[in-house]
Amino acid sequence: MSKYIELIPTIKKAVFAGAEILLSHLGKLSQMDINTKAKNDFVTKVDKESEVCIVNILRERTPNFDILTEETIPDEMKRNNRWIVDPLDGTTNYIHNFPFFAISIALEEKGTVVLGMVYDPLRKELFFAEKGKGAFLNDKSISVSKRKTVDECFLATGFPFKAHNYIDPYLKVFREMFLGSSGVRRAGSAVLDLAYTACGRLDGFWEMKLSPWDVAAGSLLIKEAGGKVTDWEGGEDYIFSGNIVGSNGHIHSQMLSIIKEHFT
Ligand code: IPD
Ligand code: CA
Ligand code: CA
Repeated sequence: MSKYIELIPTIKKAVFAGAEILLSHLGKLSQMDINTKAKNDFVTKVDKESEVCIVNILRERTPNFDILTEETIPDEMKRNNRWIVDPLDGTTNYIHNFPFFAISIALEEKGTVVLGMVYDPLRKELFFAEKGKGAFLNDKSISVSKRKTVDECFLATGFPFKAHNYIDPYLKVFREMFLGSSGVRRAGSAVLDLAYTACGRLDGFWEMKLSPWDVAAGSLLIKEAGGKVTDWEGGEDYIFSGNIVGSNGHIHSQMLSIIKEHFT
């Protein structure tokens, strides 16, 4: 039986409550509801409202767990268990009514992600993984794709919009991935890019300078679906370095070597 089974209804309740908030404001935001954190980095009243709602639900059920979230709650980093929450991934998409955004909640135990849930409210797709127990989409088991080389693969990425100083080497990597694959997408939600890699819609994903809430749940989904996740050195430090490659496993070393060639 699942070690965390009692927490699953709580995570579901939290993502569905956050999703209701996202859907109720979609297409109705005014300029006054949007703040700029940095160039091209936005936060809306919806990010905050969703976060407060999710945090309240998690806190009520697990008052002794830490919570790391994107918008408001400071990281305490004291206890064994920690929730990692992105209350709206794809804020820029959301602001523009571009239908690709999600909510992500992960649970970390002593520094290891043990549960991950990603919910796409528009498609009603609930991705879930528990460490050692597999990955699921709407309760059906999922697995990564079987494609063996990058040239036959469909990839996704994110642009380094918070780290413009890396644009030149990034574009060299992009050029090589683009010319050497069957297609590259930049849809604007790292959380969904990872979930899509887990269920085989994408074969691989890479991005730099992400935050823990962008990758914690999605990386567990990929691993539990049989894929591979590393940082750009091929190591384990993808949650805090934010430099991540997630793939079906077969093309992982090929993707890493393309990245390493331009980021030494
Ligand atoms: C962003 C999205 C985007 C990625 C950014 C993230 P946010 O998250 O995941 O795809 O390229 O790096 O910050 O800010 O919309 O939650
Ligand atoms: Ca995010
Ligand atoms: Ca966010």
